[in-house]
Amino acid sequence: MPNILLVGNGAREHAMAEAVLRSTEKPLLFSYMKANNPGIASLSVKTKIGSYSDLAAITNFATENKIEFAVIGPEDPLNNGVVDALAITGIPAVGPTKSLARLETSKAFTRNLVSKYKIPGNPQYKVFKAIGGVEEFLNTLDGIVLKPDGLTGGKGVLVQGDHFATPQEALTLCTQILTESSSLIVEEKFDGEEFSLQCLCDGQTVVGTPLVQDHKRRFDDDKGPNTGGMGSYSMPDHSMPFLKPSDIEEGLEITRQVASALLKETGSPYKGIMYGGFIATKNGAKLLEYNARFGDPEAMNILPLLKTDFVDVCRHIIEGTLDKLKIEFEQKATVCKYVVPKGYGLPADHPDAASSRAKIEIGNVGKARLYYSSVDKKEDGLYLSSSRAIGIVGIADTLDAARKIAEEGVKAVSGPVAYREDIGTNALIQKRIDHMKKIRKD
Ligand SMILES: Nc1ncnc2c1ncn2[C@@H]1O[C@H](COP(=O)(O)OP(=O)(O)O)[C@@H](O)[C@H]1O
Ligand SMILES: [Mg+2]
Repeated sequence: MPNILLVGNGAREHAMAEAVLRSTEKPLLFSYMKANNPGIASLSVKTKIGSYSDLAAITNFATENKIEFAVIGPEDPLNNGVVDALAITGIPAVGPTKSLARLETSKAFTRNLVSKYKIPGNPQYKVFKAIGGVEEFLNTLDGIVLKPDGLTGGKGVLVQGDHFATPQEALTLCTQILTESSSLIVEEKFDGEEFSLQCLCDGQTVVGTPLVQDHKRRFDDDKGPNTGGMGSYSMPDHSMPFLKPSDIEEGLEITRQVASALLKETGSPYKGIMYGGFIATKNGAKLLEYNARFGDPEAMNILPLLKTDFVDVCRHIIEGTLDKLKIEFEQKATVCKYVVPKGYGLPADHPDAASSRAKIEIGNVGKARLYYSSVDKKEDGLYLSSSRAIGIVGIADTLDAARKIAEEGVKAVSGPVAYREDIGTNALIQKRIDHMKKIRKD
């Protein structure tokens, strides 16, 4: 019975906790969270609440409880060096060291790595530390994307057409970004459809998992502000309906080459999740960014489908023997819908903003799975916070059946909440297919 430490408190980590506990080894789960997640708490033998920057509290909790290995969910503790701190006490982890987590925490590092090792997938781009030369480069691009370096909680990237119109406006935004961030990445805007390819990596071997598509916009039809993610789906064949097999192979190959480049560049193997955010274009798969952990919601699509023992998967990642393990996923469709406070993502003066901190009730979710995110469990029931509240997942043989299960689950949550009805619908998927058809013909 191994003792396993889980760091994190979201729905992603709730799904990770569930995957750990499905192991035939009957592991005991110890969870370190920055806020109490009632789902994770109910699966853990012991929990500790504390900050993700308090590395001593995390390592003490681990050593006190004779942890065999740790699994790190979110990017913040990775960025703070939790894996390095655990390693000093002799506890290995699934998750990269602070230096290797630059794959996510520094978009400039990753763009430069891909370029230095001549790996395909980069846009035209330049990294700037000062405004000199920015205007000239902006004028060479057909479409512009601006990215501050460093973690921005998914809210830092500015895209031409969405956030600004002209190169002149871009220049003003660049000046602003450079006052807040040490570096600015200016890059070419791609046209295409995005997909998430979450890979397992032991430093050498890279194993792909079923592809997922996330929906960042707050409202149906991809309208409204960007959010942490309103929901996601995956298909029974583990591909996406708008992709060609070559798109997937290219995404995998880029990730293999990046894993090998990371080893050459830093001298140490990347052990953890390499989540590639890709976009299929008329010229094949291009790289938007990497995350150094599972996606939230995307973890909820793939972990429930994992047939291989997750504890075994973790051990092979840590020991560098992923090539020796057959990793299998069920051939099912999944639809994840986030239930959020009505005011989520809206300005504070919006009439719905007051929905935060209201009480909710959860009825019978039927066949759906429920993963807690930001909810506050008080003596008299569950309360919303200002963030995403509950991830509801439907799993079935077809996408439509999975969507109906998720939909039924969502309807069981009552209170001032909202969700995206269109995620997993045939109409939305047809739109993606048509978009790709049009792009490929141009
Ligand atoms: N080069 C690009 N071309 C087109 N769209 C992009 C590009 N880079 C980023 N985006 C858009 O901006 C979103 C956020 O960018 P990303 O690099 O994933 O950063 P983050 O997730 O940290 O905000 C992407 O999901 C995509 O929609
Ligand atoms: Mg992203």
